Amino acid sequence: MRRAVCPGSFDPVTNGHLDIIGRASRLFDEVIVAVLVNESKSGLFPHDERVEMLREVTAVYRNVRVDGFQGLLVDYCREQGAEVVIKGIRAVSDFDYELKMAQMNVGLAGVETLFMPTNPLYSFLSSSLIKDVAKWGGDVTPHVPEIVALRLADRLRKPAPNG
Ligand code: PNS
Repeated sequence: MRRAVCPGSFDPVTNGHLDIIGRASRLFDEVIVAVLVNESKSGLFPHDERVEMLREVTAVYRNVRVDGFQGLLVDYCREQGAEVVIKGIRAVSDFDYELKMAQMNVGLAGVETLFMPTNPLYSFLSSSLIKDVAKWGGDVTPHVPEIVALRLADRLRKPAPNG
């Protein structure tokens, strides 16, 4: 079985992520969307909510599974029996960052990375941009699944603990 891992923070998942996940699902027998548990970086959405949103929006793909991981990506790949990591590349700036990680990961454990060019429709999208636009009341509905837009509105409406 050819198994690939699509790793990321997914805080939150965007249409750009979904495009990569969907295309990867046509190339591999199984795709694991691996959501990083990052203790040093607090996101907008807690880890379990990111996983929940991803499960909902990837339910249409029968060979896609969503999971969480902590520690080294290559260790997680080994545990899961996955030989390949899939990464979306939006621009040269992504390549610069991703190349270093890909080279490190192949050196650490022989885990290969395949770069998938982002659909130009989504090449400007990022989770941080989405959060910023949503925070200031901008319309993010063309760029994220509907449930993500609703959850963003809900979360950003709640006042922060200190006002
Ligand atoms: O969506 P992101 O935040 O760009 O995803 C980054 C991610 C999760 C792919 C990367 O931070 C990662 O692989 N973290 C796990 C720790 C690790 O393996 N670090 C060494 C990378 S060479």
